[in-house]
Amino acid sequence: MKGVVLAGGLGTRLYPLTYVTNKHLLPVYNRPMVFYPLKTLVDAMIDEILLVIGGPYAGHFLRVLKNGNELGIKHLEYVYQEDEGGIAQALSLACDFADKDSICVILGDNCTDVKIKKDVDSFAGGAHIFLRKVPDPQRFGVPVFDSKGEILKIEEKPQKPKSKFAVTGLYLYDNTVFNKINKVKPSRRGEVEITDVNNLYLKEGSLKHSELKGFWDDAGTFDTLFLANWYWAKKKNE
Ligand code: DAU
Repeated sequence: MKGVVLAGGLGTRLYPLTYVTNKHLLPVYNRPMVFYPLKTLVDAMIDEILLVIGGPYAGHFLRVLKNGNELGIKHLEYVYQEDEGGIAQALSLACDFADKDSICVILGDNCTDVKIKKDVDSFAGGAHIFLRKVPDPQRFGVPVFDSKGEILKIEEKPQKPKSKFAVTGLYLYDNTVFNKINKVKPSRRGEVEITDVNNLYLKEGSLKHSELKGFWDDAGTFDTLFLANWYWAKKKNE
């Protein structure tokens, strides 16, 4: 399995911090934010990684990450996302890199200490998403469950969430993900939504899910960036 980290977008929620560099290079304790999702992949023994970058400071990534060897990455590739067309649009740029392989995708602002090697090793096609109970599900993709605990659908940022779970920005996909992305039309906010892609897997009965046990945070707002800093400072990145 190959790895894809999505670090495009403009990070507007973090203006004025992101006037001077890319969101994913802001500090989370003693490391740039993007080190955390990269480490999640490397810890799962995924060492061929594509980083999708974008915005005016894309060049800064090269200065920080170079060829990725310092982080234990064997092969690090970069691709530039021209506009901010959404997470699934960013992922579509990984098609050639994936070739025929399946991929483990993680959003560049997702910082977790959960180890996913077992899930990666046992992945057998379709898609696998990771859920996490959160106090503010309306900020996320939210699964709607039936009485047996099966997911009926996923709603993106619902005003009235039907469960307390967030779909985290960590996904395992087989190679059909690229066909599915091509079928999805941009949402009302003009983005090709990863939630729509996940709903296509759900419709064909091939979406699995599990709960992430451990720390997980998307560090894309001032409060959650602070939380990520606090957590990793306390843990001292041991
Ligand atoms: O963090 C989990 C959540 O991430 C999910 O629950 C949601 O379903 C999913 O839509 C996403 O929501 P966000 O509102 O947090 O997404 P955001 O626009 O902040 O983008 C998250 C990362 O995705 C960002 O750090 C970089 C990457 N990205 C985003 C966009 C819009 C790209 O690479 N390109 C893009 O065009």
